Amino acid sequence: MCTPRWSPGVARRPSVLLAALAVLAVMHVDSWAHDEEDLKTAISLANLLRAARTVISANQDLINDATIGDKGLSGQVVLGNAIENYRKLTGGDPRDVDPESRQGRLLAAQMVAVVEVMDENQATINSPNVGFKGFVPAVFARLVNERFKRKIGDEAEVKVTGPPERVRNRKARPDQWESEMIQNKLMSPKWPKGDVLSMVAQNDGREAFRLLVPEYYGAGCLACHGEPRGEIDITGYPKEGGKLGELGSTISVSLFR
Ligand code: HEC
Repeated sequence: MCTPRWSPGVARRPSVLLAALAVLAVMHVDSWAHDEEDLKTAISLANLLRAARTVISANQDLINDATIGDKGLSGQVVLGNAIENYRKLTGGDPRDVDPESRQGRLLAAQMVAVVEVMDENQATINSPNVGFKGFVPAVFARLVNERFKRKIGDEAEVKVTGPPERVRNRKARPDQWESEMIQNKLMSPKWPKGDVLSMVAQNDGREAFRLLVPEYYGAGCLACHGEPRGEIDITGYPKEGGKLGELGSTISVSLFR
């Protein structure tokens, strides 16, 4: 029969383990503080992107109105509304973050990206006698993220992606890590709805703090991403057959180390 026997080797283990734990505890405090700062910064970038994108969805009917020329949606107007949305969402103001800090620098770059994208698309948005102009929240968000990357891509990346079979624009395709995390974690029935995921992982060969923020299809999304699957939506893409409440989108933020 199997009676447990303690060999001297096993008996020694606890002290070895304790020593290892002591080292880990110190390292943990250190990296924990670092991760907390990363998490705060990454979440603020995701929130500001959402706050700005909401301005576009709230004004979608105005943008698509063929009877109005100038829509009054300049870069500064949209940024002002985005900051207002951000304050409602978080209670904070991105302009209050120390501009010398990394978070302040990244948020400032994102705000400039919003202004530039809007100013550069005035002709499209204000073109007379055109209804649907293709300037939808997802396009706006992608343009802002691309501009942000051009400004500060050595330090950080913000991207909107999703489950691979739901992604329309090839530029938005998930990388291997995103794809695995979306399918194995965020889409798992065990994943608490709305919880973000973060860890240190590789991005394009570089170590990064990575954050994924899940977003779920609301009724407004399904006109384009819903059923019947394959039917062409107003933007010219085939619908994905998505259902209310399903994971439709993921904001992915990387802070390179
Ligand atoms: C008017 C149609 C329309 C509506 C409504 C709409 N989308 Fe999209 N969505 C698009 C188009 C078009 C693209 C491709 C944008 C591009 O070219 O980058 C897109 C892209 C996306 C992407 C980026 C990945 C990709 O495929 O390029 C996600 C994620 C997404 N949509 C989720 C949503 C969610 C969530 C909602 C609701 C909150 C929503 N969409 C509402 C048309 C729409």
